[in-house]
Amino acid sequence: MTMTQTMTQWDAESLTRRFDEVRAHTETLAAPLSPEDQTVQSMPDVSPTKWHRAHVTWFFETFVLADNEPAFAPFQDKYWFLFNSYYEAVGPRFSRADRGVITRPGAHDVGVYRGNVDDRMRDLMSSLDGGTVEKLTPTIELGFHHEQQHQELLLMDIKHVLSMNPMRPTYAGSPSEVCEPDALGWVDVAGGLVEIGHAGPGFSFDNELPRHQTWLNPYRLADRLVTNAEWLEFMTDGGYARPELWLSDGWARVKAEGWEAPFYWEQVEGVWFGHTLNGTWPVNPGLPASHVSHYEADAYATWAGKRLPTEAEWEHAVVADGQAVDGNLADARTFHPQAAPEATGKLRQVYGDCWEWTSSAYLAYPGFHPAEGAIGEYNGKFMSSQMVLRGGCALTPPGHARATYRNFFPSGSRWALSGVRLADGGVPTTTAGAA
Ligand SMILES: [Fe+2]
Repeated sequence: MTMTQTMTQWDAESLTRRFDEVRAHTETLAAPLSPEDQTVQSMPDVSPTKWHRAHVTWFFETFVLADNEPAFAPFQDKYWFLFNSYYEAVGPRFSRADRGVITRPGAHDVGVYRGNVDDRMRDLMSSLDGGTVEKLTPTIELGFHHEQQHQELLLMDIKHVLSMNPMRPTYAGSPSEVCEPDALGWVDVAGGLVEIGHAGPGFSFDNELPRHQTWLNPYRLADRLVTNAEWLEFMTDGGYARPELWLSDGWARVKAEGWEAPFYWEQVEGVWFGHTLNGTWPVNPGLPASHVSHYEADAYATWAGKRLPTEAEWEHAVVADGQAVDGNLADARTFHPQAAPEATGKLRQVYGDCWEWTSSAYLAYPGFHPAEGAIGEYNGKFMSSQMVLRGGCALTPPGHARATYRNFFPSGSRWALSGVRLADGGVPTTTAGAA
């Protein structure tokens, strides 16, 4: 099977243990949410919490149980239709933009569905011989990482749902102390002929493969993310009113949708407030600017006289910098980007805080091949009209961030927890024509 590369050694017991951990974590995230919270779809990009809980269950039922469970029968025929996200090869599916009109099954019944599939998965995994475990491990492990992706989406989505309520209910966490940003530092990277892409050991999605060479001219990356204070300077300098700073499509969105600040910001009596999973608070100057589109990230970089990093620059710099996969991820339970730690001369806020927009279009690496069959639709078919983001955010589950991870969203997306790291340099040098 080629959709993932895994060097992790699993046996039936460890696979079952991990399955239980991942499944339980989804329920922990959903636990503070009422059945009503879990039903709302506040915009087409947002899915109801209970849909996420059901869809990740459908994934195991469809891609593991259907072909391997003796006398398989779906838990419920219609669930096959309701909880298919985008797999054309599996069959027809319910409209994505209309998931919020589905009141039945309710949140409780989705829990019953989850329990049923959990039991059947455990029965299957405990009955497998070593060879079959090896054969099914890539798909089951993909199911773990798929569910983790949806754990992050569940949080991004409920943030938007709760933001629509004038009572501004909170989800969890507490606001950070008001702080000011420190001076922006830069980390120089020599570049040259480098390799990017997953090399193992451990799991990767197929889009991180194959590992390959690429050339990087010497460049530098900002040592931390752009802050709210810096974003306010951009706004004060007419950032959202100067077409020369913007890509054409971005400027069209600014005009059409009246953008004048990041997605969750609103001005009340001259003060900018931002909505978070901890409630709505005055914008904190020292925290990273977040919930900006690629268009905004690009316009900010242009205004600052810099640029966004390419994904190869980002990945190589992070590996060359010796960064541990650690930071303000979801296990920190801040549920919001935090101020950069004290400067050390190395990159800060690499993992966690905000997914970082790059200037790289989301395209296949040289030699990429999606897997055979429906599971091959996981990543490859989305390699059009989207931009790559790197690093992870404050809503990313631990164990779900790595240097080679390629997240992707359309350029206009703002509800994802995205931010900006600036780059500079990287300009080709040549001796041709030099006098
Ligand atoms: Fe999915």
